[in-house]
Amino acid sequence: TGAVAFTGAHQAGIVTAAQDRLHFVAFDVVTKDRDRLVKVLKEWTAAAARMTAGQDAGEIGAVAGIPEAPPDDTGEAIGLPPSALTITAGFGPTLFRAADGQDRFGLAARMPEALAPLPAFTGDTLDAALSGGDIAIQACANDPQVAVHAIRNLARIGMGVVSVRWSQLGFGRTASTSTGQATPRNLFGFKDGTRNLKAEEPDLLREHLWVQPGDGPDWMTGGSYLVTRKIRMLIETWDRSPLAEQEAIMGRLKGSGAPLGRTGEFDEPDFQAVGADGEPVIPDIAHVRLAHPDTNNGARMLRRGYNFVDGSDGLGRLDAGLFFIAYQRDPRKAFIPVQRSLAGRDELNEYIRHVSSGLFACPPGVTGSGDHWGSALF
Ligand code: HEM
Repeated sequence: TGAVAFTGAHQAGIVTAAQDRLHFVAFDVVTKDRDRLVKVLKEWTAAAARMTAGQDAGEIGAVAGIPEAPPDDTGEAIGLPPSALTITAGFGPTLFRAADGQDRFGLAARMPEALAPLPAFTGDTLDAALSGGDIAIQACANDPQVAVHAIRNLARIGMGVVSVRWSQLGFGRTASTSTGQATPRNLFGFKDGTRNLKAEEPDLLREHLWVQPGDGPDWMTGGSYLVTRKIRMLIETWDRSPLAEQEAIMGRLKGSGAPLGRTGEFDEPDFQAVGADGEPVIPDIAHVRLAHPDTNNGARMLRRGYNFVDGSDGLGRLDAGLFFIAYQRDPRKAFIPVQRSLAGRDELNEYIRHVSSGLFACPPGVTGSGDHWGSALF
């Protein structure tokens, strides 16, 4: 229920111990006026700092203002604790160069090469209306109402300058980002996040998570690139597949989370081991083999996804899955090669559909009250 620090070298909400709830939103910028956009970024930063501390979004508050004016906070979080709220912002490729090539805000020259739009992957069934966006905000908290309140108030503040393009609610973190957290399970019933980058590994975070000086434009140093993929899970099909097949597809035991052929969750997988039948103990098409750094030139990322159930699809099935979130120093060396490896061969593909995709450059942390999101960019 406590508060997470809002300011720092890096944005909160990345290595922060993954909270239980998510409200994610992608905005389109609807103004051509750069100054109005910067003004909103400043107002957002101030509101985010206040809400992270458990305060109202505005300085006056939900109920202390004059009766004639709409309140500067919407009120549904009155009395709720900070709930470890983190609010993390990122900029999409279209902010720098619109789909029609237009340099809307004079930012085209400052676009990092690492923010080049993601390529199409085998099997993609992306819905354009649910993908992309000029600015993304990830709100995570241990209380869903606190996360929703944060996004709602930022959308309110941004009215006329940004409009909501798409948004996603998530529950039940599907990753642990700290060694102090137990590994949760995704909707396929498997432990997810066992071999994730963790907050306690500063050398690995430097190498794989945080943008380093010289990687690209200076404004991103200390930041990280965010990839989101809404992955629908065909859970009714999965639920009819035998346990042994589920475990072969993942390459891990469903109960303990141990790699096939081993006993402990955190045992190293042995990709060379061959069974009595002459076949590899961890199949060639197993998810953990295809996603493993050894298969992908050392690629690693910090996964921070959430389960979702968006009601039903009208065809007698739950509209459910994984809202995949991954942070990395350079998607060209992490998400892209790993997803290429998975998209071509992963047996999991029979049970999942990627329906939305996003890529965002999350700048470094805000340093104090005079600073704001993207201050070094604009
Ligand atoms: C590992 C599930 C999609 C990248 C795992 C593990 C599970 C899992 C159960 C093993 C536990 C762990 O180490 O965390 C799923 C499911 C997915 C999905 C159900 C889709 C619905 C993806 C995607 C990517 C990805 C799209 C990236 C392109 C990874 C990586 C690992 C991993 C990098 C760790 C591999 C290692 O170092 O051993 N996933 N995953 N996963 N997954 Fe996925």
